[in-house]
Amino acid sequence: MPFKINELQEAYLRYRNFISNSNRPFHERYIFPFFAGTYFTYRWVDIIRLTNIAKAVSSRPTFVDVGCGYGDFLEKIREYLPNAVGVEKEGNIFYAFRKTRPDYIHSTAIEWIENKSYDVAFVGWMEPGVDFRKHVARLVNCIITTFDEGGQCGVYGSCEYEEFGFKRVAWWRTPSWIDVNTELMNKYYSSTLQSDQKQYQLTKLRSAHNLWYIYARACVFNQVVAGLKSSVAIEKEASSRRRFDFESILDECGFHYMEDLPSLSNKVDRLWEVKFE
Ligand SMILES: C[S@@+](CC[C@H](N)C(=O)[O-])C[C@H]1O[C@@H](n2cnc3c(N)ncnc32)[C@H](O)[C@@H]1O
Repeated sequence: MPFKINELQEAYLRYRNFISNSNRPFHERYIFPFFAGTYFTYRWVDIIRLTNIAKAVSSRPTFVDVGCGYGDFLEKIREYLPNAVGVEKEGNIFYAFRKTRPDYIHSTAIEWIENKSYDVAFVGWMEPGVDFRKHVARLVNCIITTFDEGGQCGVYGSCEYEEFGFKRVAWWRTPSWIDVNTELMNKYYSSTLQSDQKQYQLTKLRSAHNLWYIYARACVFNQVVAGLKSSVAIEKEASSRRRFDFESILDECGFHYMEDLPSLSNKVDRLWEVKFE
């Protein structure tokens, strides 16, 4: 369901209007994710996991964020991998957002990239109806992808990479922007839900629908496992864990690092907990 540029411009004006009237920092990331955030939510630990995987695959890793939008996530990755690049099919979004396109974001479709390879590709949220997996798969040995549980991405409803010769290494769960958006709407923007008791009941229903899957070809599988394990070990040292300022919203909405959500308890998975295959 790719967007039309005039619809995007209209939405962008609404976003500008929202931020000029809002005194709630970071809410825009979870209300207008295409303009001020990402479709998946992330913390610093996600950045460190991905960059440690890339460093385990190569001593001079190359990294591409496919469909990177305006580059919010990529910018954080580049703090640790300064050569990381993005590929974004809709170069027009920079015109619509009145932003200069950074030279590390290539305005092209992944299908058009030839004679290049990367150590790691990141695919953050393919829109339903869009499926460029085979074009990513031919360029790399390691793919990290995020998508909404239910697997509605792609023409064939799949966001996975086994059919392209990859094996899943590990996965973890985080909230999607919609999960956070729902909590913010209940708390701040719904006029009908005023009582504290009602709000408390609603927070008990909160869930987290975004999955992160790590895929590797056999030639780098062990390095990817080692990179992710070393990252998880660093995270356990809480004192060495950094935070992005917008993580405060995730905490406020009850999506803490290692939170055990009541709605997920039968699946025994905590948010951001890495499960190796
Ligand atoms: C849902 S947005 C996600 C943007 C960003 N990764 C995020 O999570 O906020 C998907 C992006 O992929 C881009 N895209 C779609 N097909 C593409 C392709 N074949 N090559 C490169 N980018 C593509 C779209 O233009 C859009 O910006």
